[in-house]
Amino acid sequence: MQRNINISEEEAAKQLEFARILKESLDERKAAENREFTYHIETFGCQMNAKDSEKLAGILETIGYKETDSENADIVLYNTCTVRENANNRVYGRIGFLGKLKKKKPDMKIILCGCMMQEAHVVEKIKQSYRFVDIIFGTHNIYKLAELLYESENPVNGSSGMCIEILPDADKIVENLPSARKYSFKGGVNIMYGCNNFCSYCIVPYVRGRERSRRSEDILNEIREMTANGVSEIMLLGQNVNSYGKGLEEEISFAGLLEKVCRLEGVKRVRFMTPHPKDLTDDIISVIAKEPNICNHVHLPLQSGSSRLLKLMNRHYTKEDYLALTERIKSAIPDVALTTDIIVGFPGETEEDFQETLDVIKKVRFSSAFTFIYSKRTGTPAAKMPDQVPEDIIKDRFDRLLKVISEISAELTAKDTGNIVNVLVEEPSTQKEGYVTGRLANNLLVHFEGGKELLGSYTDVRLKEAKGFYYLGERV
Ligand code: 5AD
Ligand code: SF4
Repeated sequence: MQRNINISEEEAAKQLEFARILKESLDERKAAENREFTYHIETFGCQMNAKDSEKLAGILETIGYKETDSENADIVLYNTCTVRENANNRVYGRIGFLGKLKKKKPDMKIILCGCMMQEAHVVEKIKQSYRFVDIIFGTHNIYKLAELLYESENPVNGSSGMCIEILPDADKIVENLPSARKYSFKGGVNIMYGCNNFCSYCIVPYVRGRERSRRSEDILNEIREMTANGVSEIMLLGQNVNSYGKGLEEEISFAGLLEKVCRLEGVKRVRFMTPHPKDLTDDIISVIAKEPNICNHVHLPLQSGSSRLLKLMNRHYTKEDYLALTERIKSAIPDVALTTDIIVGFPGETEEDFQETLDVIKKVRFSSAFTFIYSKRTGTPAAKMPDQVPEDIIKDRFDRLLKVISEISAELTAKDTGNIVNVLVEEPSTQKEGYVTGRLANNLLVHFEGGKELLGSYTDVRLKEAKGFYYLGERV
């Protein structure tokens, strides 16, 4: 059953009013102390979190804080992830470190938000053991940062405790809030929030709530504004982008949205993340095939190549379905690069199951893959499944998996060496001084000689040398 989602522009106006009030008092403090006030956001996890962090940064910049790389800032905000347990442990370690910083700088505000905060036991632990934290909120109310900061600075009845607001699910999509984009030339756009799939290992549906799509006109307007400001590459974001449109009053599918987005003026490249194999229709494939500015890259999480495990994972496709789908994609989209996510060590995974995964990898020939060791997440069905796989077996499979993936990547990159490709120049290279990094349409990276003036531009590059997952090249 789809619920009605309340799409709210009024909420944005209310939050901007809180930001205005906070700005007034910050301006007074800036004048009194004669210095800038800074914020630092640390983002854990996926592209959705990265996008949320841009929105949080947009609010803080509206109030008048300046970004800094250092955690020695006036506001430190951790936007957390809880997809795997080890991410949680890392965050606890870092919060402890922030506590030490705050002892030397008592006015510092420590804010925690994101997926991990949607778990009651996490908030309980922070209340008990990290009492110096100022504000905690979850995934459903990131738009309320200004209001929560205001409450924390102006506690009711003189109370000075932690300010905590976690909503169990979202009934609201807030439009028209500012966003401080990390890159001036490319950016993510949320098209939908939440996930209804309930893959049996995954905690996301519990912490990000049910699927809700944004109205297409709101999405298109956001993109129009981005292109007017110099953005040329758009990444459409959602936990399950190809179920976009369900529950909206308008009749629109993901294929329809893609078509509209790639025809907007100024949009040179379109990417999307993440589609689910069960919902990747032929309509979507043909739109990608026919529209030249949709990148020839499809990230298609496989998770496992064993139909038996895929059933236990609640993925709704078999090994054969996945292979047939990737064949259809390859024959429709020439030179398409396929990438994937794979989990090793799902409960009950046998050597035969693992061999099925290797078999799919060898048949599909992914250009790269994100590989994960299964992490037991309390509250998910898989956490209760018997036969958790011993660590040494997982480690051995994981190493073999990486070897197969990197061999195939190396073969694929070697095959394209010598080609001339068009790239978007994204960053100064981390590999070599005086070099920049460009991204190919197929999502691979090439490092080549060039200066900062190239950032954000498109240029042709010859791929000189394959280095496994990336290339060295030269401008032509
Ligand atoms: N353990 C390991 N990997 C997981 N993922 C999601 N949940 C888990 C888990 N419990 C992986 C999946 C998903 C990616 C974003 O994270 O591969 O596609
Ligand atoms: Fe998690 Fe599955 Fe939803 Fe992806 S599709 S977020 S893996 S439940």
